[in-house]
Amino acid sequence: VQSALRRASSSRHLLSRAYSANACPERKVAVLGAAGGIGQPLALLMKLNPLVSHLSLYDIAGTPGVAADVSHVNTRSEVKGYMGEDQLGAALEGSDVVVIPAGVPRKPGMTRDDLFNINAGIVKTLCTAIAKYCPNALVNMISNPVNSTVPIAAEVFKKAGTYDEKKLFGVTTLDVVRAKTFYAGKAKVPVSEVDVPVVGGHAGITILPLFSQAKPLGSNLSEDDIKALTKRTQDGGTEVVEAKAGKGSATLSMAYAGSIFADACLKGLNGVPDVVECSFVQSTVTDLPFFASKVRLGKNGVEEILGLGSLSDFEKEGLEKLKPELKASIEKGIKFAHGN
Ligand code: NAD
Ligand code: LMR
Repeated sequence: VQSALRRASSSRHLLSRAYSANACPERKVAVLGAAGGIGQPLALLMKLNPLVSHLSLYDIAGTPGVAADVSHVNTRSEVKGYMGEDQLGAALEGSDVVVIPAGVPRKPGMTRDDLFNINAGIVKTLCTAIAKYCPNALVNMISNPVNSTVPIAAEVFKKAGTYDEKKLFGVTTLDVVRAKTFYAGKAKVPVSEVDVPVVGGHAGITILPLFSQAKPLGSNLSEDDIKALTKRTQDGGTEVVEAKAGKGSATLSMAYAGSIFADACLKGLNGVPDVVECSFVQSTVTDLPFFASKVRLGKNGVEEILGLGSLSDFEKEGLEKLKPELKASIEKGIKFAHGN
C-alpha cells in the first residue's frame, strides 16, 4: 500500500511539475495607469490570474499604496509598484504583456475624441518607453480614443524600428461584454452562453455589434429590437458616463473586460489553442488600415485575423456608415505621431 501511495504521490508531483513547466511559464504583466479608476481593479484582477508570475504596477502617482495593498492577496504573482517616469523602464523591463489604461476619462457631453489632446501625448510617451524597454511585449491599449491611440502606438513603434503588427491590440472587449449582456437580456438566453462579435472601432457608430451572428438563438428579436440593441451597445460608454455624472467613465466593467483580454493574450503566448477575442488591430478585413474583428491569439500575438462572416443588410449599412469616421480617427492618430 505504501509503495502504491508513493507512486501516486510521485506521479502527482511529476504531473504538477509538467503542468507548471508547460502550461504556466513565468509571465510579467505591466499595468500603466495602475492607480486609476480602471487600473486599480484591473491590478486586482491580474493579481487573481494564475498565469501571471510578476505584476508590475506603474503610474505617475499613487502606485506604492496600490501595490502594497494588492500584494497582500495570497496568489501566485509577485507585485511591484513603480512611480514617476524615472521608474518607467524598470516597470516595463521583461514584460510579456503591457496593459495601458493611462489617461483622462470622459465627462458628460464629451466624445472620446475630446480626450485626444491629453491622451495622445501620454500614449506616445508610454509607447516610446515600451519600444525601448520591452519591444517584444504584447500591448493592450485601453486609453481613449482607441481608434486613434492604437495608430499612434503603431507609428511610435515604427519610428523606433520595433513595430510588430501582431503585438498591438486596441482593447474593444468591453463592447463585446456589453453586447453579450444586452443580447442575453432581450433574447432571454443564459448570458454565460452568449457569443456576439463586435467589429469596427471603439467610439459611437464605429462600434458595430453583429447580432445576426449572435449565439445562442433565443426569443425572436424584431428588427426594432436589433436596432435598439445596436444603439445601446454603441452608447454603452455614454450610458455609464452620464450615470457617473462627472465622476468619470466605465472602470469596473472595463477592468473586467481588460482582464479577459489580457488573460486571452497570456493563454495565446502559452500556446493554448483556439483563443479568439475581438480586438482593434492592423487589418486587411476592410480597406481601413486598422479594424476590430475576431482575432485568434497565439505564441506571437495575432495568429489569424478572422473575417466578418455574413452580415445582415442593417449591418452592411452600419459598416459603410462607420468607415469615414474610423478612417478620420486613424489618420488623426498617424498625423499626431508624425507631427510631434
Ligand atoms: P482615471 O483618471 O481614473 O485613471 C487614469 C490614470 O492614468 C490615473 O491614475 C493617472 O495618474 C494615470 N496617468 C496619467 N498620465 C499618466 C502617464 N503619463 N503615465 C502613467 N499613468 C498616467 O481614468 P480611468 O477611468 O481609469 O480611464 C483611463 C482611460 O481608459 C481613459 O482614457 C478612458 O477613456 C479609457 N477607457 C477605455 C475603455 C475601453 O473600452 N477601451 C473603457 C473605459 C475607459
Ligand atoms: C467605454 O466604452 O466605456 C469607454 O470607452 C469610456 C467612455 O468614454 O465611454
